[in-house]
Amino acid sequence: MAEAPERVIIDCDPGHDDMAAILLAAWHDRIRLEAITTVCGNASLANTTNNALRIVEAFGLDVPVHAGAVQPLLHRYDFPAAFHGPSGLDSAGADLPPATRAAQGQHAVDAIIERVEAHPGEITLVVIGPMTNAALVLAKRPDLAGKIKRLVFMGGSSTEGNVTPAAEFNIWADAEAARIVFRSGVKLVMFGLNVTHQTRLAQAAIDAVRAAQPGPNPAADIMQFYCGTYHAFAGADPRGAPLHDPCTIAYLIEPDIFAVEPRPGEVIVADCESYGQTLIDLRPQDRKHDTRTMNVDVAMSADTTRFTDLVTQALIWAAKRYATTSKTRTQGAA
Ligand code: BDR
Ligand code: CA
Repeated sequence: MAEAPERVIIDCDPGHDDMAAILLAAWHDRIRLEAITTVCGNASLANTTNNALRIVEAFGLDVPVHAGAVQPLLHRYDFPAAFHGPSGLDSAGADLPPATRAAQGQHAVDAIIERVEAHPGEITLVVIGPMTNAALVLAKRPDLAGKIKRLVFMGGSSTEGNVTPAAEFNIWADAEAARIVFRSGVKLVMFGLNVTHQTRLAQAAIDAVRAAQPGPNPAADIMQFYCGTYHAFAGADPRGAPLHDPCTIAYLIEPDIFAVEPRPGEVIVADCESYGQTLIDLRPQDRKHDTRTMNVDVAMSADTTRFTDLVTQALIWAAKRYATTSKTRTQGAA
C-alpha cells in the first residue's frame, strides 16, 4: 500500500528559495500542503504575504495563506533587499501577476494551533523564515511541542554564518524566537548553511526550466534574479546560488538525500558578536555518561545531484503550470 502523504504547513517569508520550496511541496505527491503561513523576514509581512498569495494564484495552488507576525519578538533590522529585491520576490524578467485574493482572516499562529490540535502527531511544521510564528505557537500552547510531528527548519549553521560571521539570517532575524523553539522539546530537524551551501542551483538548471516552457516564465526569471544577486554578493560560482529552503521539503520527500546527526544545539541571544548563532555541539558523545540533550537532528551533508534534480523537476512543472494557469485566467477574464 502506498504511504500516506506527509501533512505539511510551510511557515515562510517568500523569498526566492521559499518559492522554490513551496513549488517543490506542491509538485510532489509525497507532500500534502495543508497551509502556508507567513512571517516578516526577507521583507515586511505585507510583502511576504502578498508574495505567498501571488505564488499560490500564479501557479494554481489550492492552499490557504495565513499572515503571521508583523515583527520579530525583540530584534529590529533592515530587510535584506540586496538578495531578494525590495519586494522580497523580484524577478529578472517576467513577474508574477498581482494577487486578486486576500489572506485568510485567521492569524497564522491560530491556524497552526488549530491544525495541529485537529491532527495531533500528524502535522510537520516546515519553518523557512524567522521562527517568530513558531515561538508564538509554542508560547501560547507549550503542550503542542509534543503534538507537532516535527519541526523541520532552514536556519542556523554548524559552521559559518551569512549575515554575520557566526549567524545565519533566519535565526539572527529573531534569535529570541529561535531559542524558545530550540528549548521547547519539539522534535527539530535543522538544515543550516553547513549543508545548504552545498545544495546549489546552477545556471544549467535555470536554462532547463526556461527551455521547458517558452514564453513568459516567471519560475525561471525569479530564480535567475536570485542567482544574480547571490553572485553579486559572493562572487560568480559555477555551482550557482545556494538553494537553502527547499532542502527541508526535499528531506521530507527523500530523506536519504541527506545525512542527519542528532546533536545538542543552542541559540546565542547575548548582545555580542555571535548574536543569532546556532551553537551545535559537534564533539564526540560519551553516550553512557553524557547528559546533554540531543535536541536537534542536524543535516550535515547532501547528495547534491539528487537534490538539484528534484528541485529542477519541480521548477519545470511550475513553469508549465504557470502557462496553463495563466491561459485559464485570461480565458476567464475574456
Ligand atoms: C535564509 O534567509 C533567506 O534569505 C532565505 O529565504 C533563507 O530562508 C538563508 O539564510
Ligand atoms: Ca526563507
